[in-house]
Amino acid sequence: MNKYENSLQQTTVLSLRAISRRFQQGSREITVLDGASTDIGEAQAVALIGPSGAGKSTLLHIAGLLEKPDQGEVWIRGQNCAQLNDGERTRLRRKHIGFVYQFHQLLPEFTALENILLPQLINGKARSEGLDRARYLLSLMGLENRLDHRPAELSGGEQQRVAIARSIANQPRLLLADEPTGNLDPSTAERVFDQMLEVVRTEKLGAIIATHNHALAEQMDRTVMLENGKLLDLPPQ
Ligand SMILES: Nc1ncnc2c1ncn2[C@@H]1O[C@H](COP(=O)(O)OP(=O)(O)OP(=O)(O)O)[C@@H](O)[C@H]1O
Ligand SMILES: [Mg+2]
Repeated sequence: MNKYENSLQQTTVLSLRAISRRFQQGSREITVLDGASTDIGEAQAVALIGPSGAGKSTLLHIAGLLEKPDQGEVWIRGQNCAQLNDGERTRLRRKHIGFVYQFHQLLPEFTALENILLPQLINGKARSEGLDRARYLLSLMGLENRLDHRPAELSGGEQQRVAIARSIANQPRLLLADEPTGNLDPSTAERVFDQMLEVVRTEKLGAIIATHNHALAEQMDRTVMLENGKLLDLPPQ
C-alpha cells in the first residue's frame, strides 16, 4: 500500500461497497438498492437525496448496521462488518455511529440532560463525566437554559436539537440522519440544520444526512443521489 492509499484508508469512515437490498411485496420482489457504493471521509458531510421510496432510509439502516444487505459490504473505519457477529455489530454501532431520525424519539419521562446522559451510562461512562459532556453538547446546540426540560416542554426545533446532541453523546465517528429537519417549519429547519452541520464540523464527523430540501443539501460538502438503486455523486454547485 503506498502512502496515498494509506492516508485514504485512514480517513474513510464508512465505505459502502455494491450494496443490494430486495424486498418481497406481495407476490413480487422489488429491488430497492442495486449495487450502491460510496465512501464517506472523516469530517465530511454528505447530503443523501432521492425521491420518496428511492431507498434512502433503507440505505441508512444498512450503513448503521441495523439491517444487513442482501449483497455487498459495509466497512466502518477499515473493518468489514460482514465478518462480525451480532454482538460485535451492536458494540461497533454503539461506539462509532450516531443516529438522528425525523421524529426525535427522546425518552418522554427524562429531561434533556438525562436523555443525553443515559446512552453514555449504557456505554460505561462515569456519571460525572457523562453529565459534563451532556451539558457541553446542550450548550453547543444553544440549549443551556433547557437542561431540565422534558421533551413535552420543548419546541419541535428544541427537541430535534436535543436528539442531535444525544446522537453524538458517545463521540461517534459517523452520524446518520434521516430527514432530521423534515418535521420542522422552514426557518426552524434551517437553523437546526446549520447547528447540526456546525457540530458535525466541530466533532470532525463523517455524516450522511438524508433530506428532501435541496437548499440545505447545497450547504454540505457533497451530494449523493439515490437513483435506480445506485448512488451517484452530483457535481458541486
Ligand atoms: N421492510 C420492508 N418490507 C418491504 N418493503 C420495504 C421495507 N422497507 C422498505 N421497503 C420498500 O423499499 C422502498 C424504499 O423505502 P425507503 O423507506 O428506504 O425509501 P425512502 O427513500 O427513505 O423514502 P422517503 O423519502 O419517503 O422516506 C419503498 O418502496 C418501501 O416500500
Ligand atoms: Mg425515508
